[in-house]
Amino acid sequence: MMFIDTHTHIYTEEFDADRADVVERARRAGAVALLLPNIDEASIEPMMALCDAHPDLCHPMMGLHPTELPPDPSPLLDRMEAMLAEGTRKFVAVGEVGLDFYWDAGRRDEQIAVFDRQITWAERYGLPLVIHSRSAHRDLVDTLLPHRDRLARGGVFHCFGGTAEEAKELLDTFPGFYLGIGGVVTFKRSSLPEVLATEVPLERLLTETDAPYLAPVPYRGKRNEPAYVPMVVARLAEIYHTTIEAVGEITTQNARRLFAI
Ligand code: NI
Repeated sequence: MMFIDTHTHIYTEEFDADRADVVERARRAGAVALLLPNIDEASIEPMMALCDAHPDLCHPMMGLHPTELPPDPSPLLDRMEAMLAEGTRKFVAVGEVGLDFYWDAGRRDEQIAVFDRQITWAERYGLPLVIHSRSAHRDLVDTLLPHRDRLARGGVFHCFGGTAEEAKELLDTFPGFYLGIGGVVTFKRSSLPEVLATEVPLERLLTETDAPYLAPVPYRGKRNEPAYVPMVVARLAEIYHTTIEAVGEITTQNARRLFAI
Protein backbone atom coordinates (compact mmCIF):
# COMPACT_ATOMS: atom_id res chain seq x y z
CA MET A 1 0.00 0.00 0.00
CA MET A 2 1.22 3.49 -0.83
CA PHE A 3 0.39 6.77 0.86
CA ILE A 4 1.47 10.39 1.19
CA ASP A 5 1.64 12.07 4.59
CA THR A 6 0.53 15.51 3.42
CA HIS A 7 1.09 17.21 6.79
CA THR A 8 3.92 16.15 9.06
CA HIS A 9 6.23 18.11 11.37
CA ILE A 10 8.93 15.48 11.86
CA TYR A 11 11.64 18.17 11.79
CA THR A 12 10.64 19.23 15.36
CA GLU A 13 12.63 18.34 18.47
CA GLU A 14 10.25 15.48 19.35
CA PHE A 15 12.08 13.53 16.61
CA ASP A 16 15.67 14.64 17.30
CA ALA A 17 16.64 11.30 18.87
CA ASP A 18 15.43 9.00 16.07
CA ARG A 19 14.52 11.07 12.99
CA ALA A 20 16.36 8.79 10.55
CA ASP A 21 14.48 5.77 11.93
CA VAL A 22 11.18 7.61 11.62
CA VAL A 23 11.90 8.32 7.94
CA GLU A 24 12.96 4.72 7.36
CA ARG A 25 9.80 3.38 9.03
CA ALA A 26 7.73 5.73 6.85
CA ARG A 27 9.34 4.36 3.67
CA ARG A 28 8.82 0.76 4.79
CA ALA A 29 5.15 1.47 5.63
CA GLY A 30 4.60 2.73 2.05
CA ALA A 31 5.18 6.49 2.18
CA VAL A 32 6.02 7.91 -1.25
CA ALA A 33 6.19 11.53 0.00
CA LEU A 34 6.24 13.47 3.26
CA LEU A 35 5.06 17.08 3.05
CA LEU A 36 6.41 19.44 5.70
CA PRO A 37 4.39 22.53 6.66
CA ASN A 38 6.43 25.32 8.23
CA ILE A 39 5.46 26.71 11.65
CA ASP A 40 7.53 29.80 12.54
CA GLU A 41 10.97 31.32 11.97
CA ALA A 42 12.88 28.74 14.04
CA SER A 43 11.37 25.78 12.19
CA ILE A 44 12.62 26.84 8.75
CA GLU A 45 16.20 25.61 9.15
CA PRO A 46 15.45 22.11 10.54
CA MET A 47 12.68 21.68 7.94
CA MET A 48 15.09 22.53 5.11
CA ALA A 49 17.81 20.28 6.55
CA LEU A 50 15.40 17.33 6.56
CA CYS A 51 14.42 18.03 2.93
CA ASP A 52 18.11 18.18 1.96
CA ALA A 53 18.72 14.85 3.68
CA HIS A 54 15.81 13.12 1.88
CA PRO A 55 15.17 15.07 -1.34
CA ASP A 56 13.29 12.15 -2.94
CA LEU A 57 10.79 11.96 -0.06
CA CYS A 58 10.51 15.25 1.88
CA HIS A 59 9.07 18.49 0.46
CA PRO A 60 8.89 21.82 2.33
CA MET A 61 6.15 24.45 2.52
CA MET A 62 6.48 28.08 3.56
CA GLY A 63 4.13 29.94 5.88
CA LEU A 64 3.49 31.26 9.39
CA HIS A 65 1.21 29.21 11.67
CA PRO A 66 -1.68 31.24 13.13
CA THR A 67 -0.80 30.50 16.78
CA GLU A 68 2.85 31.51 16.29
CA LEU A 69 2.57 35.19 15.34
CA PRO A 70 5.44 37.27 16.76
CA PRO A 71 4.49 40.62 18.41
CA ASP A 72 4.94 42.28 15.00
CA PRO A 73 4.55 39.62 12.28
CA SER A 74 5.38 41.92 9.35
CA PRO A 75 9.22 41.57 9.24
CA LEU A 76 8.99 37.77 9.44
CA LEU A 77 6.30 37.68 6.76
CA ASP A 78 8.57 39.83 4.57
CA ARG A 79 11.42 37.33 4.99
CA MET A 80 9.15 34.39 4.25
CA GLU A 81 7.75 36.02 1.16
CA ALA A 82 11.28 36.80 -0.03
CA MET A 83 12.08 33.08 0.13
CA LEU A 84 9.07 32.30 -2.04
CA ALA A 85 9.94 35.10 -4.45
CA GLU A 86 13.63 34.13 -4.81
CA GLY A 87 12.69 30.69 -6.01
CA THR A 88 16.06 29.18 -5.02
CA ARG A 89 14.17 26.57 -2.96
CA LYS A 90 11.15 24.72 -4.26
CA PHE A 91 8.19 24.98 -1.90
CA VAL A 92 5.19 22.74 -2.63
CA ALA A 93 2.64 24.97 -0.84
CA VAL A 94 1.98 28.03 1.28
CA GLY A 95 1.47 26.52 4.75
CA GLU A 96 0.61 26.13 7.29
CA VAL A 97 -1.51 29.24 7.50
CA GLY A 98 -4.99 30.02 8.76
CA LEU A 99 -7.02 30.94 11.82
CA ASP A 100 -7.06 29.48 15.33
CA PHE A 101 -9.46 31.11 17.78
CA TYR A 102 -9.38 28.06 20.05
CA TRP A 103 -5.79 28.55 21.24
CA ASP A 104 -5.51 32.28 20.54
CA ALA A 105 -8.79 34.20 20.52
CA GLY A 106 -7.13 37.45 21.58
CA ARG A 107 -5.54 38.34 18.23
CA ARG A 108 -8.45 37.64 15.94
CA ASP A 109 -8.07 40.64 13.62
CA GLU A 110 -4.30 40.20 13.37
CA GLN A 111 -4.70 36.51 12.55
CA ILE A 112 -7.15 37.36 9.79
CA ALA A 113 -4.78 40.01 8.35
CA VAL A 114 -1.80 37.63 8.43
CA PHE A 115 -3.86 34.85 6.84
CA ASP A 116 -5.13 37.21 4.17
CA ARG A 117 -1.59 38.30 3.26
CA GLN A 118 -0.43 34.69 2.99
CA ILE A 119 -3.40 33.80 0.79
CA THR A 120 -2.08 36.37 -1.69
CA TRP A 121 1.25 34.47 -1.77
CA ALA A 122 -0.59 31.38 -3.03
CA GLU A 123 -2.09 33.52 -5.80
CA ARG A 124 1.15 35.32 -6.70
CA TYR A 125 3.48 32.32 -6.64
CA GLY A 126 0.96 29.81 -7.98
CA LEU A 127 0.97 27.46 -5.00
CA PRO A 128 -1.70 25.47 -3.15
CA LEU A 129 -2.75 26.64 0.34
CA VAL A 130 -2.43 24.40 3.40
CA ILE A 131 -4.96 25.76 5.89
CA HIS A 132 -5.23 25.29 9.65
CA SER A 133 -8.62 26.31 11.04
CA ARG A 134 -9.90 25.86 14.56
CA SER A 135 -13.04 27.46 16.03
CA ALA A 136 -12.97 29.82 13.06
CA HIS A 137 -15.17 28.32 10.33
CA ARG A 138 -17.16 31.48 9.44
CA ASP A 139 -14.10 33.77 9.40
CA LEU A 140 -12.22 31.17 7.37
CA VAL A 141 -14.87 31.18 4.64
CA ASP A 142 -15.21 34.97 4.75
CA THR A 143 -11.45 35.53 4.45
CA LEU A 144 -10.89 32.97 1.71
CA LEU A 145 -13.94 33.69 -0.44
CA PRO A 146 -12.80 37.01 -2.01
CA HIS A 147 -9.65 35.22 -3.25
CA ARG A 148 -11.36 32.10 -4.55
CA ASP A 149 -11.17 32.74 -8.27
CA ARG A 150 -7.45 33.58 -8.14
CA LEU A 151 -6.49 30.48 -6.12
CA ALA A 152 -5.83 28.40 -9.22
CA ARG A 153 -3.91 25.69 -7.34
CA GLY A 154 -6.54 25.05 -4.65
CA GLY A 155 -5.52 23.71 -1.27
CA VAL A 156 -6.39 21.61 1.75
CA PHE A 157 -8.32 22.19 4.95
CA HIS A 158 -5.87 20.32 7.13
CA CYS A 159 -7.08 18.25 10.10
CA PHE A 160 -10.71 18.85 9.22
CA GLY A 161 -12.90 18.36 12.29
CA GLY A 162 -16.11 20.19 11.51
CA THR A 163 -19.72 19.22 10.94
CA ALA A 164 -21.28 17.71 7.82
CA GLU A 165 -22.70 21.14 6.96
CA GLU A 166 -19.25 22.73 7.26
CA ALA A 167 -17.65 20.02 5.13
CA LYS A 168 -20.29 20.50 2.46
CA GLU A 169 -19.91 24.28 2.52
CA LEU A 170 -16.12 24.12 2.19
CA LEU A 171 -16.11 21.58 -0.63
CA ASP A 172 -18.97 23.26 -2.54
CA THR A 173 -17.55 26.78 -2.14
CA PHE A 174 -13.91 25.91 -2.88
CA PRO A 175 -13.83 23.35 -5.71
CA GLY A 176 -10.05 22.89 -5.87
CA PHE A 177 -9.77 22.13 -2.17
CA TYR A 178 -9.49 18.88 -0.20
CA LEU A 179 -10.03 17.83 3.41
CA GLY A 180 -6.96 16.54 5.28
CA ILE A 181 -7.80 13.49 7.42
CA GLY A 182 -5.58 12.01 10.15
CA GLY A 183 -5.68 10.06 13.40
CA VAL A 184 -8.90 11.65 14.67
CA VAL A 185 -10.91 9.51 12.24
CA THR A 186 -9.84 6.41 14.22
CA PHE A 187 -10.98 7.78 17.61
CA LYS A 188 -13.90 5.92 19.18
CA ARG A 189 -16.26 8.82 19.72
CA SER A 190 -15.28 10.82 16.63
CA SER A 191 -18.15 12.12 14.51
CA LEU A 192 -15.78 12.39 11.56
CA PRO A 193 -16.56 8.95 10.01
CA GLU A 194 -20.25 9.86 9.75
CA VAL A 195 -19.43 13.32 8.34
CA LEU A 196 -17.17 11.78 5.69
CA ALA A 197 -19.66 9.06 4.74
CA THR A 198 -22.46 11.63 4.35
CA GLU A 199 -20.76 14.54 2.61
CA VAL A 200 -17.24 13.82 1.36
CA PRO A 201 -16.21 11.72 -1.64
CA LEU A 202 -12.87 9.93 -1.40
CA GLU A 203 -11.73 12.04 -4.35
CA ARG A 204 -11.70 15.10 -2.05
CA LEU A 205 -9.60 13.57 0.77
CA LEU A 206 -5.89 13.67 1.66
CA THR A 207 -4.16 11.59 4.32
CA GLU A 208 -1.96 13.22 6.95
CA THR A 209 -0.59 12.82 10.47
CA ASP A 210 0.05 16.30 11.91
CA ALA A 211 2.93 14.46 13.65
CA PRO A 212 3.93 14.63 16.47
CA TYR A 213 0.25 15.19 17.36
CA LEU A 214 -2.99 13.21 16.96
CA ALA A 215 -1.67 9.66 16.68
CA PRO A 216 -4.32 7.17 15.51
CA VAL A 217 -5.66 4.26 17.56
CA PRO A 218 -3.91 2.15 18.95
CA TYR A 219 -1.24 4.82 19.53
CA ARG A 220 -3.64 7.56 20.62
CA GLY A 221 -1.93 9.94 23.06
CA LYS A 222 1.57 8.86 22.00
CA ARG A 223 3.90 10.57 19.53
CA ASN A 224 2.52 10.36 16.01
CA GLU A 225 4.68 9.57 12.95
CA PRO A 226 4.14 9.01 9.21
CA ALA A 227 4.36 5.19 9.51
CA TYR A 228 0.96 5.35 11.30
CA VAL A 229 -0.90 6.71 8.24
CA PRO A 230 -1.88 3.13 7.18
CA MET A 231 -4.15 3.00 10.28
CA VAL A 232 -5.96 6.07 8.97
CA VAL A 233 -6.14 4.49 5.50
CA ALA A 234 -7.58 1.29 7.00
CA ARG A 235 -10.30 3.23 8.82
CA LEU A 236 -11.14 5.14 5.61
CA ALA A 237 -11.43 1.81 3.77
CA GLU A 238 -14.09 0.75 6.32
CA ILE A 239 -15.94 4.06 6.05
CA TYR A 240 -16.00 3.98 2.23
CA HIS A 241 -16.57 0.21 1.94
CA THR A 242 -13.53 -0.29 -0.25
CA THR A 243 -10.05 -1.75 -0.01
CA ILE A 244 -7.01 -0.34 1.77
CA GLU A 245 -5.18 -0.40 -1.58
CA ALA A 246 -7.91 1.65 -3.28
CA VAL A 247 -7.88 4.28 -0.51
CA GLY A 248 -4.09 4.48 -0.65
CA GLU A 249 -4.11 4.85 -4.41
CA ILE A 250 -6.89 7.45 -4.62
CA THR A 251 -5.58 9.64 -1.78
CA THR A 252 -2.03 9.41 -3.16
CA GLN A 253 -3.26 10.55 -6.58
CA ASN A 254 -5.22 13.37 -4.92
CA ALA A 255 -2.04 14.57 -3.17
CA ARG A 256 0.07 14.26 -6.32
CA ARG A 257 -2.47 16.31 -8.25
CA LEU A 258 -2.77 19.03 -5.60
CA PHE A 259 0.93 19.45 -4.80
CA ALA A 260 2.30 18.60 -8.27
CA ILE A 261 4.74 16.04 -6.87
NI1 NI B 1 0.42 21.24 11.49
